[in-house]
Amino acid sequence: MPLLFKRIKDIRNHLRDQKCSGNLSVGFVPTMGYLHEGHKALIRESKIQNDITVVSIYVNPTQFGPNEDYERYPRDLNRDMAICEEEGVDIVFAPTDEEMYPHGFTTEVYVKGLSDILEGEFRKGHFKGVATVVLKLFNIIQPDRAYFGEKDYQQLKVIQRMVEDLLLPIEIVPVPIVREPDGLAYSSRNVYLSPEERKSALSIYNSFLLAQEMIEGGEKRAGVIKRAMERFILSHPHVKKIDYIEITDEDLNPKEEVEKGDRILVAVWVGNTRLIDNWKVE
Ligand code: PAF
Repeated sequence: MPLLFKRIKDIRNHLRDQKCSGNLSVGFVPTMGYLHEGHKALIRESKIQNDITVVSIYVNPTQFGPNEDYERYPRDLNRDMAICEEEGVDIVFAPTDEEMYPHGFTTEVYVKGLSDILEGEFRKGHFKGVATVVLKLFNIIQPDRAYFGEKDYQQLKVIQRMVEDLLLPIEIVPVPIVREPDGLAYSSRNVYLSPEERKSALSIYNSFLLAQEMIEGGEKRAGVIKRAMERFILSHPHVKKIDYIEITDEDLNPKEEVEKGDRILVAVWVGNTRLIDNWKVE
């Protein structure tokens, strides 16, 4: 079993001793738990590149809006510990809210601009919560490298910006999206989907294939591609609404003319579940 720490001072002491006992590198995988294949890919990458791999499991309240799924977000520490053991994780950090947000806490990290578009328009304050908790976790773990999935592409960009702006000596390692065999991107939120909704959720992946096909057929106009994707996704039952379909360059600047390497990003409500996904244009 990995070592489990719930207190900041305990994990700090442990990591300090470990680092003193040799020149050991630390890889860090921040998560909100309910681990799946996407997280396993992050862990595996960390294990290849580092001597010690630390996984944090913490459902961070400040990145959820008042009407979002904080209360019902799936939590199962025993299940997560078993997965971490299978994957050879060295240390799990699962703090309480009191540890992470001491009484009187008022400081926040705001990555201007990048936090306000796309997800930021629909989830006000979300990236402030993410950047703040990730900086806190970085300060506790002090990793050499930290691993973020491209599934949350905008989150990855926000964290990269924060690390550059605040001069943090941490390498951010992006890890490609892991999909189920039929194309649905792994997400802890997939557990909310009924079997029927899950079928409709596949329209997201299939809309990327449609877009890719259009691009390969010579279509370059982002507007035309986005409208075709929208029509396709909305034609599926249980799809309630699309928050956005956007085509950007790799830095999230909107594009009119699509080219290889651009990103297509979507957020779609299937039943009561909000799913995000993205695709790198090939
Ligand atoms: O991607 C997530 O699971 C969360 O946003 C993160 C990075 C663990 C911060 O709470």
